[in-house]
Amino acid sequence: MAGNAVSINGSWASRWVFILAATGSAVGLGNIWKFPYMTGMYGGGAFVVMYLVCIALVGLPIMLAETLIGRRARMSPVNAMRSLAVEAGASPKLAWPAVMGMVAALLILSFYSVIAGWSLDYVLGMGAGRFTGVDAAGAGAAFGALTADPWRLTLWHTLFMVLTGFVIARGVVAGLEKSLRVMMPLLFVLLLILLGYSFTTGHFMEGFHFLFSFQPDKVLDGVLAAMGHAFFTLSVGVGSIMVYGSYMPRHASIGATVLTVGILDTLVALTAGLALFPIVFAGGLEPGAGPGLMFVTLPVAFGNIPFGQLMGTVFFILVLIAAWTSSISMLEPAVAYLVERTGRSRALITAGLALLCWLVGMGTVLSFNLGADARFFVFGEDGFHLFQWGAEGGRTFFDSIDYLTSRILLPLGGLAFVLFAGWVLKRETVREELALRSPLLFTAVYWLMRVVAPLGVLVVFVAELAKQ
Ligand code: PFF
Repeated sequence: MAGNAVSINGSWASRWVFILAATGSAVGLGNIWKFPYMTGMYGGGAFVVMYLVCIALVGLPIMLAETLIGRRARMSPVNAMRSLAVEAGASPKLAWPAVMGMVAALLILSFYSVIAGWSLDYVLGMGAGRFTGVDAAGAGAAFGALTADPWRLTLWHTLFMVLTGFVIARGVVAGLEKSLRVMMPLLFVLLLILLGYSFTTGHFMEGFHFLFSFQPDKVLDGVLAAMGHAFFTLSVGVGSIMVYGSYMPRHASIGATVLTVGILDTLVALTAGLALFPIVFAGGLEPGAGPGLMFVTLPVAFGNIPFGQLMGTVFFILVLIAAWTSSISMLEPAVAYLVERTGRSRALITAGLALLCWLVGMGTVLSFNLGADARFFVFGEDGFHLFQWGAEGGRTFFDSIDYLTSRILLPLGGLAFVLFAGWVLKRETVREELALRSPLLFTAVYWLMRVVAPLGVLVVFVAELAKQ
């Protein structure tokens, strides 16, 4: 039976390595870059509360579902779902969401690599002392100059994609463990130092209130955004966690493991938010500034504290590694699947897929400069246009890919995975995999997967539609 096999793509040495790898996947640009800027754009506390609710009631059950599907079958997501569906007497077509997930993960990688490339540029900028003594206006101008330059963006995007492909080509299991052991604790320590700086700005409480004061009237504004982000930040809905689950040892407790990853991820995001917003307010910056938020605020902090040049350099190196360990997990489902399916070399498959993602990523590079006027999904006065050059509204290429993945593909993928675990797999299979001691706890977790999480996704979709 599938339950005892070992994946041909490798297996983790212990449950701890899975925790490290899954945390490495979850903690990334989503926590340090995206969470603060989305919180800023969607008005603060209301967004944060919805995000936490979505993590607890939807994100974690889906993470649990993915891990258990992967570990049960010990194959890449597409093959895992296909074989488990057949084993449970259902149609192999139920594996289609895993195909969609692979595509979504590759689309995410395409823009993720561009943003991670910004961090590469900042490592050098910080190291060279470009930000020493900088104020908010200066940091804003430096960021503007970077995004306006397609060549510089392309260079970093290319380099980051090569770095990602390199680890994947050698095999995730071999490459990931050592770097993560050092990097995760260090990242946390540096975030705490930044938090310390934000205390000294005199605007700490302003930042705190912005993050945690709940305004009920704003809740509906950003629910879909908050749910999409909960998926993005936990890396669920695309099969990344599922493929990592397939490398997990047989006798590890899935529940506690998944909870640990979720808590670590949330802690990093909240600490990043608490560190950033006081700096935003102290510098008279706009919290709703969008994707540039972290790249404008942090140089101000590092440019004005003792040893800031060194700490800033280390910090951006850590952001880079955090992004790297996440991007690896985006490529892995598709690579693992194609290795299983074609039997060709991992290196060759990795190179092909990385090239594809690189090409799509060039759309994101250009969306910040030469192609900023290329707008997609435009609802104009003369009706809907899929594409229009120079339109007022609509979304840039980067916004479109981000929107399509976070708001639509991830929630749908997650919904399909959790329904699969809750309704297609036999109850006994799920019980066996979860191996929870308390029957009551099992029933609660099982119903979270069967009913609460799927309903959560549906309710948010409907609420969003109702708003239109
Ligand atoms: N969780 C990552 C982050 O927060 O940066 C992003 C991510 C990783 C999304 C892997 C999707 C994925 F498959």
